Amino acid sequence: MTTEKFDIAMVGLGVMGRNLVLNIADHGFSVAGYDLDQEKVEALRQEGAGKPVLAVTALADLIAALKQPRAIIMLVPAGPPVDAVIRDLLPHLSAGDLIIDGGNSHFSDTDLRAKEVTSRGLGYLGVGISGGASGARHGPSMMPGGSASMYARVRPIFEAAAAKVDGDPCVTFLGPRSAGHYVKMVHNGIEYAIMQLIAETYDLLNRGAGLSNDQLAETYAQWNDTDVGGFLVEITAHIFRQPDDRSCQRLIDVILDEAKQKGTGLWTSQEAMALQVPAPTIDMAVAMRDLSVLKEQREAASKVLPATVGTYEGNQEELKSQLREALYVGMLVAFAQGLALLRHASDQYEYDLQLEDVARIWRGGCIIRAKMLEDIRSAYQRRGDLTNLLLDEPLATKVKSRHEGLRAIVRTAAALRIPTPGFMVSLAYLDAYRSPWLPANLIQAQRDYFGAHTYERIDRKGVFHTQWNT
Ligand code: 6PG
Repeated sequence: MTTEKFDIAMVGLGVMGRNLVLNIADHGFSVAGYDLDQEKVEALRQEGAGKPVLAVTALADLIAALKQPRAIIMLVPAGPPVDAVIRDLLPHLSAGDLIIDGGNSHFSDTDLRAKEVTSRGLGYLGVGISGGASGARHGPSMMPGGSASMYARVRPIFEAAAAKVDGDPCVTFLGPRSAGHYVKMVHNGIEYAIMQLIAETYDLLNRGAGLSNDQLAETYAQWNDTDVGGFLVEITAHIFRQPDDRSCQRLIDVILDEAKQKGTGLWTSQEAMALQVPAPTIDMAVAMRDLSVLKEQREAASKVLPATVGTYEGNQEELKSQLREALYVGMLVAFAQGLALLRHASDQYEYDLQLEDVARIWRGGCIIRAKMLEDIRSAYQRRGDLTNLLLDEPLATKVKSRHEGLRAIVRTAAALRIPTPGFMVSLAYLDAYRSPWLPANLIQAQRDYFGAHTYERIDRKGVFHTQWNT
């Protein structure tokens, strides 16, 4: 056992935990890693050879190896495993020690855990970490929430390990309690929406216009150099080039069309509904994952309700250009919905979120990093209290010059019988959001008609009820 004391600990040496240990160690901080699984500990020992890294299978060894006050990151699956680790850690810790949950925990769990842990004189941070295995290794985006003074203690380590954009680390303290995990949840809701929109562009280009995988790869690679560029578009280009090592096909063509989920997109939709912040692009992305796994029903329905997918007969370059505009507007609408939810949640839960900071730390390292986040950040720089991105004049100008592409795509998709629900709801959201009049007067009238729920008038204040003529 070494007598050297380590700067920080990692509990959970799965690929994310292990990679983050190596990343932190590469920046000159010493890290002690712990896992019950001997194989994972061995993997860290090997990969961490020559670095300031310790790997152990006994919790007592981990605790003894740490500088005091201690700082311990947990990277374990969300839910009961997080509570189990906290339970195991608590008897070993003393006042001033800090527990950091780096997983995708539900924000309400983080609130409860933070309360419990801090009541014992310890610190607690809930930190959303995005970027997958490669991000953890080479620089993730990190979204910390909890106690600001506790964050200050680990800040140099987090800033060193985070992704950098023009030297600026993609991490900053976001707010109290569960603020960090809330922001990460919404990040994932936006992630679902962008993935759904890109999938719809693929469907139109593939089934509609008959593009080959090479042509698809080329198209997304070109788009990545434009204003829709970002990590998800970039990896989409790579995906179409990937060969399958079990057949002579491209891998994409042998992957089952059923999208699984761990639930963070669903949580975002649930929260948006609960706080009454419309986020239909995110909701639809969740619904389409659900619909995708109903494969047997889809197959049965395709026999009862057959629909032949049409062939796009127009100019392919025009279709691509409309799709790129549609993707731009759809992505911006998804960001607008997610950030509007954050704006509202910040008031509701008193997080005091600075949305400029959120946009800034999403520019690098995370899954939804995209070029348009620079413009989004500028929008919040201009007006920190902006309620919806679509109200920002420069962004609105971009939407105005591109939304006809989105409208054309919705028309084309409907005519070809290719489902593009993400684009359709994004367009409907845009049109509804900018409409000073909506047919909700009729809904008020109906509610009053059948339930005497009353209605308001446009010409005088107060609430009214009418005995409707039957
Ligand atoms: C990230 C990802 C990451 C993970 C999601 C996937 O930001 O690095 O969002 O957190 O890939 O858990 O979520 P689903 O399994 O729900 O698609």
